[in-house]
Amino acid sequence: MTFIILKLTSFPFFITFESKLNGMILVIGSGGQVGQELVSKLRQKHGNDAVISSDISPLKDEDGPSIQLDALDKAAIEDSISRYKIKTVYHLAALLSANAEKQIHFAWKLNMESLFNVLELGKEGRIDQIFWPSSIAVFGPTTPKTNTPQDTVTDPTTVYGISKLAGERWCEYYANNFNVDVRSIRYPGLIGYKSMPGGGTTDYAVDIFHKALSDGKYICFLKADTKLPMMYMEDAIRATIEIMEAPKDSIRIRSSYNLAGISFSPEEIATIIQRQLPQFEIEYAPDFRQKIAESWPQSINDNAAQKDWNWQLEYNLDKMCKDMLWHLK
Ligand code: SER
Repeated sequence: MTFIILKLTSFPFFITFESKLNGMILVIGSGGQVGQELVSKLRQKHGNDAVISSDISPLKDEDGPSIQLDALDKAAIEDSISRYKIKTVYHLAALLSANAEKQIHFAWKLNMESLFNVLELGKEGRIDQIFWPSSIAVFGPTTPKTNTPQDTVTDPTTVYGISKLAGERWCEYYANNFNVDVRSIRYPGLIGYKSMPGGGTTDYAVDIFHKALSDGKYICFLKADTKLPMMYMEDAIRATIEIMEAPKDSIRIRSSYNLAGISFSPEEIATIIQRQLPQFEIEYAPDFRQKIAESWPQSINDNAAQKDWNWQLEYNLDKMCKDMLWHLK
């Protein structure tokens, strides 16, 4: 049974934003790294009461309506959709790469069944638009490592990657066969100062900033020269909102769009942090995540996103590091 708490702070706003947006927005998995920042950006745009945050754990959401919702509970999602007149769903709930390797069957169940719950609502015409994130994890060891094209070998070796690749295929299937307006981005590793990642392989690139400031030292779980594609959260949230706002016809790819971001290794980011914190030291103690990282590309080609919905990156490595350190300090 799903327990639902809704705080509707100001009913008149509910009406105003509902009519402007043609329905409310639901963010599933709002407690995660992307969810927290996405909810706050969507609320800045559409008003606090137009965006309902939701998570399996109760959220301390003081700014707007919030419900406790299990992404696997189809009936509870359906109930929330009708009850709160939801027309747009951002479905973010998933187990990330490292955690998924520890619970392979549950990861598959969560990542796949929750997606079906939302895609079915699109098929039934009960919601107008869906955002679902994919990942660089759809690529694998025989994918071209650099400037990885949009359409190329996808041979993921992680449960997370397998679930994201299958999810991409299903998104495209529902778009082609049932006209579901589902849009997706293959997120690189995401780096932000407001929220912490959980259970991913790219998490080191967030942890390193926190440890640099608190301890002056970081022990990295990847090798020094492991280059991966990453992106600053500001850019990732903007990309998410921009792809959703783009005209429907411009979204030619209904599986998921490559996004390049910025590519760097632990030793490269450590050197940049040392420019601002000269005492900072890094050591390397690679664990099981090294193998995952080595199966992924080092850099991505996102020409399709640039061409179809005018995607442009704003934060390079320097600008991101300065901003991270400034905010965390
Ligand atoms: N950041 C994710 C992870 O490391 C990849 O999309 O699992």
